[in-house]
Amino acid sequence: MIFVTGGAGFIGANFVLEWLSGSDEAVVNLDALTYAGNLQTLSSLQGDDRHHFIHGDICDRAQLDRLFATHRPRAVVHFAAESHVDRSIHGPAAFVRTNVEGTFTLLEAARAYWSALDPIQRDAFRFLHVSTDEVYGSLGPDDPPFAETKAYEPNSPYSASKAASDHLVRAWHHTYGLPVVTTNCSNNYGPYQFPEKLIPLMIVNALAGKRLPVYGDGRNVRDWLYVADHCAAIREVLARGRPGETYNIGGWNEMTNLDIVRTVCGLLDTLRPDPAGPHARLITYVTDRPGHDRRYAIDARKIERELGWRPAETFESGIAKTVGWYLEHGEWVANVQSGAYRDWVARQYGSGDEGRG
Ligand code: NAD
Ligand code: TYD
Repeated sequence: MIFVTGGAGFIGANFVLEWLSGSDEAVVNLDALTYAGNLQTLSSLQGDDRHHFIHGDICDRAQLDRLFATHRPRAVVHFAAESHVDRSIHGPAAFVRTNVEGTFTLLEAARAYWSALDPIQRDAFRFLHVSTDEVYGSLGPDDPPFAETKAYEPNSPYSASKAASDHLVRAWHHTYGLPVVTTNCSNNYGPYQFPEKLIPLMIVNALAGKRLPVYGDGRNVRDWLYVADHCAAIREVLARGRPGETYNIGGWNEMTNLDIVRTVCGLLDTLRPDPAGPHARLITYVTDRPGHDRRYAIDARKIERELGWRPAETFESGIAKTVGWYLEHGEWVANVQSGAYRDWVARQYGSGDEGRG
């Protein structure tokens, strides 16, 4: 079985759902169910014996030790993190706690378990750390995209905490021999993304006739990766990535924020026309994010060369699927926004309870 952390969040839940639709290998899914974690996303797995959901914290070493001893995973896929740059600016402490201390605690628990495995299992074990392109800093318009050899230059509390976690993962390989692989990917989009991030926020606001807040001049550039493509890349790295290596994962889709927002508006104009006028009328320029990185771009040639992975979706196909998904899942959006679902989780789980499916 594999041990996933953060599997009730956006990318982790997509990963778990796809994993179990293509494999009978069971998943232990540890998630603290912060505001970003949502069990409703995993409701199709209710009663499925292959999915063991554990409500818990990656900073809790005793619980991690119990999980490793009970479930004896062959691999860890580590998604759990505080992930939103704007939140990291307002409250960096949670980012240092989960992303740095949590990754450290998970590495130590994994090392203790791995050290006691027999030699064949030790060789086969993997610790896959999911990280971000934001650790590399900001690019100028003509700079080459981020390769795995690019020096780290994190600029936000979020990216600094992820950079710190990447360094710990690297050191646990070089010092202790733990068979780690790290992936650094670009901006994901797709189903089940919490509507605080750019694309789902714009879809949800546009549908509600609310303003579409674009930071600064809207010309910041990101590379956009459809979440199912990211999950496929992670499966490849888990299966065939070389221990100690880093793989950059990108969509080959550099776009300005303004182009993203206009594309979303255009799709909504077709699929859900607003009698009040084109959705782009709602675009509003707002004060820029402090320290806002200008451009991210990923050179994803290494993973293609070594593992044969390339994204399957273009931005056009991925964004059409994403907008369609949000139009069909208004209830999911309403629940994560209202907090009603979180209240339910508090009543249902309290703290520290564990459940299956
Ligand atoms: P997310 O915020 O949607 O989900 C994070 C999950 O981790 C949530 O379910 C949350 O409850 C859980 N979590 C938070 N703190 C925890 C703790 N202390 N213990 C256990 N669980 C905890 O994030 P996401 O967008 O799914 O990102 C997943 C990973 O991918 C993160 O490591 C992030 O840094 C990385 N990443 C994300 C993107 C992106 O565009 N979303 C891009 C590059 C890298
Ligand atoms: P975001 O989805 O927060 O991802 P990240 O900052 O990790 O790349 O933001 C993507 C881009 O969109 C980023 O340049 C900030 C910008 N943005 C806005 O212009 N308005 C918004 O309301 C949000 C959330 C983001």
